[in-house]
Amino acid sequence: MDINLRSFVNRLESLPDNPSPDVLKKCLREMDGRQVPIDEYVNFSEERYKRNVIHVSSKCEVSVLCFQRGQNTPIHDHGGSIGATIIRQGMMTEELFNKQPTGMIVSTFTRRFRTEEFSYVNPATIHRVSNADTGGLVMMNIYFPPLTLMNLYNLENTTVEKWTADMKGF
Ligand SMILES: [Fe+2]
Repeated sequence: MDINLRSFVNRLESLPDNPSPDVLKKCLREMDGRQVPIDEYVNFSEERYKRNVIHVSSKCEVSVLCFQRGQNTPIHDHGGSIGATIIRQGMMTEELFNKQPTGMIVSTFTRRFRTEEFSYVNPATIHRVSNADTGGLVMMNIYFPPLTLMNLYNLENTTVEKWTADMKGF
């Protein structure tokens, strides 16, 4: 692993278990400002967006997510994890949802993040991330603790499916 990437991971490992958004943002900004190389983790898939794990421990996870044009995640939450994202290439479209008292999911608003911009996800966030741009989308995500479970939602009914980190294909 690149020495600068290793020092970034070590820095994350030295943080408290539940770091604030500001602390995570500062770490990601510094990493981005130094142009820490992640090229060896940039892999796209023709079938669906691809998660490339750089580092995972009991404390945190660092992954590079790659989306070809038109690829998107399911509507999901992050289980009990907080997450922070920085865009390294392309533009991320994020659609946010609310859960109604009935259990149905409704779209609230959509926002876009461009290269070097930062976003934050808390355990209550329900969202769908997509690449609606013309080129590839590459983002670095960090999670505290590691992303082991995502609840997957849909707009037709209140069925909630589970994604777990050992599942292939996401
Ligand atoms: Fe997410």
